[in-house]
Amino acid sequence: MKTRVLTGITTTGTPHLGNYVGAIRPAIRASQDPNNEAFFFLADYHALIKCDDPDRIARSRLEIAATWLAAGLDPQKVVFYRQSDIPEIPELCWLLTCVTAKGLMNRAHAYKAAVDQNREQGLDEDDGVTMGLFSYPVLMAADILMFNAQKVPVGRDQVQHLEMARDIAQRFNHLYGKGQSWFVLPEAVVDEEVATLPGLDGRKMSKSYNNTIPLFEGGLKSLQAAVARIVTDSKLPGEPKDPESTHLLPIYRAFASADQVQSFVEDLKAGLAWGEAKQRLVYVIEEELGPKRETYARLMANPDDIEDALALGARKARELARPFMEQLREAVGLRNTVKVSKQSKAAKKKTARMLSFRLSDDTFRFKLVSATGQELAISEPHADPKQVGAIIRNLQERASDIVIEPVGELNYRLVLAGEKIAQGAECESSQARDELMKQVRQALDELVQE
Ligand code: TRP
Repeated sequence: MKTRVLTGITTTGTPHLGNYVGAIRPAIRASQDPNNEAFFFLADYHALIKCDDPDRIARSRLEIAATWLAAGLDPQKVVFYRQSDIPEIPELCWLLTCVTAKGLMNRAHAYKAAVDQNREQGLDEDDGVTMGLFSYPVLMAADILMFNAQKVPVGRDQVQHLEMARDIAQRFNHLYGKGQSWFVLPEAVVDEEVATLPGLDGRKMSKSYNNTIPLFEGGLKSLQAAVARIVTDSKLPGEPKDPESTHLLPIYRAFASADQVQSFVEDLKAGLAWGEAKQRLVYVIEEELGPKRETYARLMANPDDIEDALALGARKARELARPFMEQLREAVGLRNTVKVSKQSKAAKKKTARMLSFRLSDDTFRFKLVSATGQELAISEPHADPKQVGAIIRNLQERASDIVIEPVGELNYRLVLAGEKIAQGAECESSQARDELMKQVRQALDELVQE
């Protein structure tokens, strides 16, 4: 069993070198671990809580997606999506909101800090506090619980949110579980060793200190200009420098090999000029980031490629979210009465239909059957009958998007969004096959009209 690891990235601001070394690079490395199944998403609904400038929201979302892709995230291997492309997330958020105690949210650090600040300034306690900020942890719980993530790598400041997600999950399981657990209780993973880079002035590199080195934006020029502004002492070329006290060293170390670091240290002691030391720093950063920056620039110039990657991720994510959400709706009593009446209408009219059935090996499949009862296609086996039910409902909704592809001379298959969903029946001639493919199209059209 793989461990499902999920990380959300709030899409505000433009990533800097500190984000790359402290978060992006380690997360991408972890995603390459074959024991993990990695989910990465752009938390753009969360971004709306902090920012009401539409252009900035749009720009940042794009930049951050391009950054992660350029840094090496492989959208084929991980599930990389945008929160706002998954309508099931806000839907789940509401179900969770309805079981979350207000008192729990009152204790959230971010909310409490806002209240404290208002009190200090003699303002109304809730001045400037939106419901978005107040219920931020519920949305975050929905992000995590939607995919039943087991591990959630976060910064220290997010640990409380993970505890809240567990609380909310437990409450939902207790109320609606009937002996089964809907949600896995997620665990926060805090990397104690995560490298924090110093910024230009030696304090932690952070947007709020305005001391950052840009990652990709602005090109090599901006990188050089920022490095030139890193504060050093005023020792002259030839004078010995103390390597451990310069901010250049930790940044150098984050990009250089052990050998390179050693000679850098020795050369500083021997009087390397600051200007030259900075050039060497740019050199090692550029070796790692140069090719990635080119990819970044190419993606930013072709946002369609970014959209394609995100569309693939959204499809993979929704394949899981949609059927799960249906089960959750059922669990809370939001049962689909329309479905029941649709079925009875279909029975009267005798149209094409999808049927699920069980095989002797205890797997489940579904088949497409014409109005006259002829079997037109059969699916792959699935272990869970509920999953089959959910797939059928999904296919019924999207029947017009299903493509019927010929296979060899005598067979065909049904494909949705590039994935095979069912196998056709072997025919005696290619003519008979073509005829049957027409019938399949008609059957699918009937499904849509229902
Ligand atoms: N709140 C997180 C942060 O600011 C971002 C985030 C949103 C997140 N949803 C998440 C992180 C779900 C992990 C899991 O860093």
